[in-house]
Amino acid sequence: MAVGVVCHLWDNMLKKNASFIPLNVATTIEDLEREKPIRFTAKQLRIATDNFRFELGSGGFGTVYKGVSTNGVTIAVKVMNGSSDKTIEEQFVAEVSTMGRTHHFNLVRLYGFCFETSLIALVYEFMVNGSLDNQLFKANTSDVIGIETLLEIALGTARGITYLHEECPQKIIHYDIKPGNILLDSKFCAKVADFGLAKLCNRDKSHITMTRCRGTPGYAAPELWMPLPVTPKCDIYSFGMLLFEIIGRRRNMDVTVGDSQQWFPVWAWGKYEKNQLNDLMIVCGIEEDDQKVVERMVKVAFCCVKYRPESRPIMSTVVKMLEGALEVPEPLNPFSHLFSGVGEVGDSLARIAWNLNDSDWSSSTVVNDTPIMKKYEITIA
Ligand SMILES: Nc1ncnc2c1ncn2[C@@H]1O[C@H](COP(=O)(O)OP(=O)(O)OP(=O)(O)O)[C@@H](O)[C@H]1O
Ligand SMILES: [Mg+2]
Repeated sequence: MAVGVVCHLWDNMLKKNASFIPLNVATTIEDLEREKPIRFTAKQLRIATDNFRFELGSGGFGTVYKGVSTNGVTIAVKVMNGSSDKTIEEQFVAEVSTMGRTHHFNLVRLYGFCFETSLIALVYEFMVNGSLDNQLFKANTSDVIGIETLLEIALGTARGITYLHEECPQKIIHYDIKPGNILLDSKFCAKVADFGLAKLCNRDKSHITMTRCRGTPGYAAPELWMPLPVTPKCDIYSFGMLLFEIIGRRRNMDVTVGDSQQWFPVWAWGKYEKNQLNDLMIVCGIEEDDQKVVERMVKVAFCCVKYRPESRPIMSTVVKMLEGALEVPEPLNPFSHLFSGVGEVGDSLARIAWNLNDSDWSSSTVVNDTPIMKKYEITIA
């Protein structure tokens, strides 16, 4: 369908939908504090971003630029990979409306959007300390974040996801929890970004799109690319993988380290199983005072990445366990399926989980796409 037709439909939908407010010149800071997302014009965003001059980064949905709105508020403008995709046509209005009304301290605020022939964009609050991956994996080790702050970041992320899963009026599965989608404000408080995006549009080819799968290899739960029911538990799995990266301050899959440590979660399990967590503490540079907290984080991570979704805890339980308010149950080996002759499924799982850059895996090796799409429809319960 041509973009123009989509825009026409879009305009009609907007006329019928009073939940959006137009941005006029007299917009004040209060507008941004309102519940409703603001509709920006392409021209306004071009001016705000100085013609998309300062790029903050890019991902599966498009490129993000820094800007300043007319009232002086710093914003992040995510320019979506433009297309007149059917998903956008059908769902953009509803989804943006939901995202714009979903407020929590640990969620990045969506201020508004633009939908014009020349520009499809989402406008977010700007997070001054960028994304967690930039902080965790940067080469300069002199200003690394301490364990106390890392625990707070993990907790903030867990609280944001708890809100999405259990507390907000329209339950939302994120589908793409990973360090790149955890943003940090000036005080290093964690804010979950990009919630609601999975339902909004397809991703580019650098992510899993061919079979309409969601998520990012290494973080996506097994049920996301296998013909199994998808529930909010897929976010718990991704959170567990994120937790390992927070603990290790490294990517879970790192081919630059010794063979046995290449996939950190499995290596960590080996150490835990043999009562040798001290090795992990040394490798990760954890000081003695922090070791109790880190042990708790490791155990929670094992619980979160269990193969069977129903065995994983819900997010509010994860919060309580991380806080220390609830005892973490003795974890069982979450990776036994990888080594117990599960056969091809196990092989695929290992390949996807481990080989982030394995160009040789294709959609057909991982998933039959027939029943999957139906299950995605439960993004908003
Ligand atoms: N609101 C924001 N404030 C500040 N920086 C941001 C903001 N949103 C995104 N960024 C920066 O832009 C980068 C790219 O974000 P983007 O969401 O496009 O990609 P990603 O998170 O790596 O992947 P994905 O497409 O899966 O979300 C982020 O890593 C972050 O550094
Ligand atoms: Mg993102």
